[in-house]
Amino acid sequence: MSRQDRKIADALTTEDLWKLMRRRVPPIVSEYFRGGADAETTMRGNVRAFQQSLTTAHGALKFPELDMSSSVVGQSIDVPWFIAPVGSLRSLYPKADAIASRVAGEYGTVMALSTLSGTTLEEVAEASTGGCWFQLYLCGGRETALRGIARAKKAGFKGLILTMDTGVSGMRAMHARMKPMEAAAPFKGLGLGEMITLALRKIALGPQMMVRLPWLLDHFGDGGLIKFVNVIDENGDPMPYTDIGQQLAASAVTWDDLKWVKEAWGDENPLIIKGVHCAYDARKAEELGATGVIWSNHGGRQQDRVPPVLHIVEKEMPLVGDTKLDFMMDGGIRNGTDILIALSYGLKAVGIGRVTAAGVGAGGYTGLNRAFEILKSDLDRAMRLVGVQSVEEIQSRGAELRRENLLMGDGHLPPFEF
Ligand SMILES: Cc1cc2nc3c(=O)[nH]c(=O)nc-3n(C[C@H](O)[C@H](O)[C@H](O)COP(=O)(O)O)c2cc1C
Repeated sequence: MSRQDRKIADALTTEDLWKLMRRRVPPIVSEYFRGGADAETTMRGNVRAFQQSLTTAHGALKFPELDMSSSVVGQSIDVPWFIAPVGSLRSLYPKADAIASRVAGEYGTVMALSTLSGTTLEEVAEASTGGCWFQLYLCGGRETALRGIARAKKAGFKGLILTMDTGVSGMRAMHARMKPMEAAAPFKGLGLGEMITLALRKIALGPQMMVRLPWLLDHFGDGGLIKFVNVIDENGDPMPYTDIGQQLAASAVTWDDLKWVKEAWGDENPLIIKGVHCAYDARKAEELGATGVIWSNHGGRQQDRVPPVLHIVEKEMPLVGDTKLDFMMDGGIRNGTDILIALSYGLKAVGIGRVTAAGVGAGGYTGLNRAFEILKSDLDRAMRLVGVQSVEEIQSRGAELRRENLLMGDGHLPPFEF
């Protein structure tokens, strides 16, 4: 067992794994995964909303077995969480997307692959035994998106997520100040002066790379800077990493797009809309053919100062009214009690974004497997202590499992880690 694997085995919380990820991965890369938009109020709020939520507990109960299974958009899952789409995961660890789909499958759940990923749809589907969903951005325009949809269908993806909250990209200032795109730019085609500037920029990264040699060796061993191999242009070429900002800016989704996306995807497998903040949008998504909705503020990376997702769920979900939609959420899930609390609002499953990055970034398969082990044992403990035997029971007993928070201030809350 390597030293890193021993540290991973010793991790008891997802925060422990997050710290291991931050030590292994250079800041110019890890900051992309950490950051939120603007003042990061919403990013922190997602986590704080869970920390401020309380549960009841029932003693004198003993359950021989727990049932953590759930069913979402017609698919059975053995644990009530799935891997939320996280772009550029492969910059944390070689073939990270395929690792994520393998681990999710081993726990009987789904991995959602981002359009902005560096591992092919086909490889990710092949690594999975639990099924994959493809998260679609309209980068490169309609024809490029249609190519992506056709590939996802052929590779056996079981769901399509359309993310609707990226009309423009959020302002993540700390990462922007590190100028990652400038540092990643190729020398090709530059004049002498620009070449010298770029060389100095790359040299300046030396110190943070040198103390993270295992990451650096993994990075070059895995082919260096990723290409977006699931965004293929009309010449068959993948989108270069450095085009991301410009492409995202041109890829805003509208309700009209939903119609052709739905037509191309077909009715056989579910269409899920992600990034929904209000009942009105959830109803509209259903009218246009969606079967699932993910309440999400993109992990606080888009519009800052929108409410924490848990508060959105609490206020907006009851307003949707009569519906056949399956509801999920992501944002701020860090442990098993968070999952229990989210499910008590009637959600079918929750997504994990930065927890996936923590696990995979700490140490690939070993790290992500440990993240899943931690969540599973956390949820097991929380269910036994609260006194519920199944996910279905959490969903149906709902508010009865929660307690009003009468604590004043936030002095009792743990320090914010991620
Ligand atoms: C580094 C990073 C990259 C992300 N990339 C995508 C993406 O490509 N597509 C998408 O729909 N959401 C993306 N998200 C949002 C996640 O799917 C999810 O909404 C968010 O991470 C949930 O919050 P959490 O990180 O607190 O779990 C990304 C989030 C992070 C942190």
